[in-house]
Amino acid sequence: MPETWWRGAVIYQVYPRSFADGNGDGVGDLAGLRDRLPYLAGLGVDALWLNPWYPSPMADGGYDVADYRDVAPVFGTLAEAEALIAEAHAAGLRIILDVVPNHSSHESAWFRAAVAAGPGSPERDRFWFRRGRDGGPPNDWQSIFGGPAWTRLPDGDWYLHLFAPEQPDFNWNSPDVVHEFHDVLRFWYDRGVDGIRIDSAALLVKDPDAAPDGRDPYTDRDGVHEIYRGWRKVTDAYPGRMLVGEVWLPDQERFARYLRPDEMHTAFNFDFLNCALEPDALRKVIDTTLATHVPLGAPPTWVLSNHDVVRPVTRYGRADTSFDLQDRRHGAPTDRALGVRRARAAALLAMALPGAVYLYQGEELGLPEVEDLPDDLRQDPIWTRSGHTDPGRDGCRVPLPWSGDEPPFGFGGDPWLPQPPDWKDLTVEAQDADPGSMLSLYRDALALRREHLGDGTLTWLPSADGVLAFARDSGLTCVLNLGDAPVPLTGEVLLASGPLPDGQLPPDTAAWLR
Ligand code: NOJ
Repeated sequence: MPETWWRGAVIYQVYPRSFADGNGDGVGDLAGLRDRLPYLAGLGVDALWLNPWYPSPMADGGYDVADYRDVAPVFGTLAEAEALIAEAHAAGLRIILDVVPNHSSHESAWFRAAVAAGPGSPERDRFWFRRGRDGGPPNDWQSIFGGPAWTRLPDGDWYLHLFAPEQPDFNWNSPDVVHEFHDVLRFWYDRGVDGIRIDSAALLVKDPDAAPDGRDPYTDRDGVHEIYRGWRKVTDAYPGRMLVGEVWLPDQERFARYLRPDEMHTAFNFDFLNCALEPDALRKVIDTTLATHVPLGAPPTWVLSNHDVVRPVTRYGRADTSFDLQDRRHGAPTDRALGVRRARAAALLAMALPGAVYLYQGEELGLPEVEDLPDDLRQDPIWTRSGHTDPGRDGCRVPLPWSGDEPPFGFGGDPWLPQPPDWKDLTVEAQDADPGSMLSLYRDALALRREHLGDGTLTWLPSADGVLAFARDSGLTCVLNLGDAPVPLTGEVLLASGPLPDGQLPPDTAAWLR
């Protein structure tokens, strides 16, 4: 594989806690993942992005990291992680690891030391400790998960956490923090990891004391780029490794700064993820994406979902098909059959576009969002921090169904979140041999993509109202009908997301042609 393998790769996101459980404790783990590597290789993906596997109190599903150089016992051991990396490589799969630089865990050695050392200590300088103001917090910042972004210690100091109180924010002005993360990157690159996904990448630099300057006080501050220039230098010493940033920024000009040649290689395309399944809106996002990336020589990424967002099958069956991180529209009426049809079409669109594709576990099975989880089992801190008004993200994190007619559907032990009984029709086993299943569509599409698609450019083709049609460098064309009436097709159909009565492309259907 070339050193720039990531430019046109299909990257499968593994949420380890919910992928497969090898030891029967109801929580997915590395043993379960190692057993299922043949499934992933057979699916036809190029790389795996694993959500955090580090020791963690799990206050935020592992995004509260207590030790960046080890593996949580619930997932396995460092030796198992090394074995997994080697086995994945042998199966032709690269590994991308999640690194969380904005915040730590309140149980990390550094934060414990900071708490113990007391106000004014150098240990506290690695985080954001401040005295309060008028008996309250140092400023009025709110946590992204709800509630105040500051928590007070008994000694009177407050510390900053843009997420949960169990996730104290690092102070990136501290040289210790800068050196620590360079070392963490090297630690994992030395163990064969092929890439790093950078969590909350735009939030690292903040100034709680600064006078308001009209810009967001902690999102996308100019100083953040210096950090990624340092990370790029570390990464460039390891050929074939890459950085992909979680950069949620609506402003494309600001977003593009993260993709300059001496910063990240790629970043997630959240404008595409958020976009409604509407022809004009989609075309605009695709054009803007290409206009942002092409001049920088950075490949776009195409992302329809991840562990933070509503599953496409549910979302696309709603009247409003857009996604909004601030309003998940939990419980909005959804038409499952329509959602499935559209999710199939959207998958063919995403996989035909030039660049890399991210695919969240379970999308290839067409899993819906589970919206009726019992409240007392919900784990997402958003649920408690929103005062039980926002159910949060557990509904897209329910353990995968592999086989059999009843829960746990071959997942392993009693799953940490319950699976709906009607997932018996959505198991890998149930879909495996059915040529009309979502799983077969993904396999077929990924095989064709490997041959004809990937990195490169696209050319828009003339099309009827409500229809998107474009050709790729290989000559393969993709047509997506989001209008109200069937449209005629010209060429040989290689793959379609649904039936084509009379050879025409019905609404909410996509086809690949040659
Ligand atoms: C983004 C991650 O995707 C999300 O799951 C997490 O809660 C926040 N960052 C905080 O780390």
